[in-house]
Amino acid sequence: MAKDNKKDKFSTEGLKVPVSLGVIMDGNGRWAKKRLLPRSAGHRAGAENLKELCRNCGNYGVKYLTVYAFSTENWSRPQAEVDQLMKLFVEFFAKYDPELEEEGIRVRFTGDIDALPEDLRKVCREGEERSKNRQKMQLIVAFNYGGRREITQAAQSLAKDVAEGRLSIEDITEDSLSERMYLPDVPDPELIIRPSGELRISNFLLWECAYSEFWVSDTLWPDFGYEDLTQAFRDYAKRDRRFGGLSKKEG
Ligand code: IPE
Ligand code: IPE
Ligand code: MG
Repeated sequence: MAKDNKKDKFSTEGLKVPVSLGVIMDGNGRWAKKRLLPRSAGHRAGAENLKELCRNCGNYGVKYLTVYAFSTENWSRPQAEVDQLMKLFVEFFAKYDPELEEEGIRVRFTGDIDALPEDLRKVCREGEERSKNRQKMQLIVAFNYGGRREITQAAQSLAKDVAEGRLSIEDITEDSLSERMYLPDVPDPELIIRPSGELRISNFLLWECAYSEFWVSDTLWPDFGYEDLTQAFRDYAKRDRRFGGLSKKEG
C-alpha cells in the first residue's frame, strides 16, 4: 500500500470505528458471473480482498475483525466448489501469513473446527499458534461456522456439566452460556457489514449479534474496498444505540 498520507487516509474524524467488527464476505459468485468467469475466480478475488480488508481495519484501529468465510450450510454446494474453497483457505494462510505478520495481525478461528478434516484442523491450529503474540488486531475467521451450531454446542457443554454434577440448573445464565461460545473473550460485534445486497444474517454470530448495528451495501465482496469501509464507519457514527433504553439525548 502507498505509504503517503497514511495518517490522513485513516483519520477517524467524523467516523466511529468499532472495536469489534463482523463482515459477511458474500457475492463472490455474482462477481465472477458478471465477468463471465467461473465461480472459482470470484472466490479467489474474494480471498485477495480479505487481505486488503485486514490491512484497512488494522489501520483504522479495529481490534477484532470476524469474517464469515464458510458456513455450516455451505457444505451443500457442489463438491467441486467446496473443494476449491478448502484449497483456497489453505493457500491463503500459506501465502499471506508473512503479510499478516508484518501488519501485526493475529489469526484465530471460530466455528466447528474439531469437525473439519485433520489437514484443515492443522492449518487452523498452526496459524493460531504462529500468530499468537501479534498485537495490532485479531482476524477471526468464521470457518465451518453456524450460529445455531455454536449455541447448540454451548448448551450441550452446560448440560454435560449439569448431568455430571459440576453445575446446577440455576448456574445456567446468559453469562455462563456466553462463556461456552467458541471465543468468549472476543467482544460482541458492534457493527456487522454485509456486502452484495442480501438483507439477512445467514446464521452468522446469532448469539453475539443481539445488539449489533447492521450495514449493507450492493457492492459485491471482491469489490468491497476502503471507500465502502469508510462509509460504513461514517454511517455507524450516526447510529443511536439504545440497547432497549432511551437515547442519550432523552435520558
Ligand atoms: C461468498 O460468496 C463465499 C462463500 C459463501 C463461501 P458466494 O459464493 O456466496 O457468492 P454469491 O452469493 O453466489 O454471489
Ligand atoms: C453467507 O453467504 C456465508 C458466507 C459468506 C461464508 P451465503 O451465500 O452462504 O448466504 P445465503 O445462502 O445467501 O444466505
Ligand atoms: Mg452468497
